[in-house]
Amino acid sequence: MGNLYGVIGCPISHSMSPDIHNHAFHVLKIDSHYHAFHIEKEQLSDAVNSLKLLGVKGYNVTIPHKVAIIPYLDELDETARIAGAVNTVVNDDGKLIGYNTDGNGYMQSLLGLLERPINEYNMLIIGAGGAAKGIYYTLAYNGCINLDIANRTITKAEDLINNCPFDNNSMAITLEEAELKLEKYDIIIQTTAVGLHPNIDEKPLSLKNAKKSAIVSDIVYNPIKTALLKEAEQSQLTIHNGVGMFVHQAAIAFSLWTGQTPPINEMTDIVYKKLG
Ligand code: ATR
Repeated sequence: MGNLYGVIGCPISHSMSPDIHNHAFHVLKIDSHYHAFHIEKEQLSDAVNSLKLLGVKGYNVTIPHKVAIIPYLDELDETARIAGAVNTVVNDDGKLIGYNTDGNGYMQSLLGLLERPINEYNMLIIGAGGAAKGIYYTLAYNGCINLDIANRTITKAEDLINNCPFDNNSMAITLEEAELKLEKYDIIIQTTAVGLHPNIDEKPLSLKNAKKSAIVSDIVYNPIKTALLKEAEQSQLTIHNGVGMFVHQAAIAFSLWTGQTPPINEMTDIVYKKLG
């Protein structure tokens, strides 16, 4: 009998995770299934116990449970400790281990665009929320020391930098300051919800001072091209959307569960097809 995997969150009905994981199981001839479970905030503890009771071998964790699930797990991998959040659970014979594959998934998707080692680039992260934290600490862990944080609320950017456990030369700046000194950065990483449906015309800042060789990266994948990426494209900058991060975070989770490498290109095609 095959194994069961899944994702818990809410809302969850539009999740594309079942599509890409079930495709990978099919291609690799693994007799398993991945299901989306709608779990409300107050149902989390019951859900964790139920999934364990039913022998679900692993699951992804998404909004609003990424931080709240931590007390219910038996162990946290270093990736989850660094991010302070969990997006993947492995059920190791009844022992629940929390991982976070978002930061490494993001980094792997970005690496494909880079010509030099990642730590040689000057980077700017826009945003200081949960998503920014995972990416910032993963990049800092991997030796990126020239990495500034711009945020609407500057104290949150300062907190992120002050709590960073890895060496860095990071500065906290406002969005207005970032806009003025954008030419300093080789890679601009947008992590806020600005530009998400339904506010698809909004941008956290203007790119008019960005340098021609800059890579503009947005972790949002719906829409595929945010207003920020559209501006970047019009200015002939290199663009990187959130589809790569989504697929790579899934691929790392898949490997943790099965020990196998899923078909990343096919999974990417599925996501683009679904997003239209
Ligand atoms: P996530 O887990 O997706 O990162 P979050 O932790 O709520 O979500 O963080 C949201 C981020 O988007 C924050 O950096 C937030 O800025 P503030 O810290 O100033 O709140 C940013 N953000 C949300 N709406 C924004 C807006 N309209 N303009 C600029 N930044 C915004």
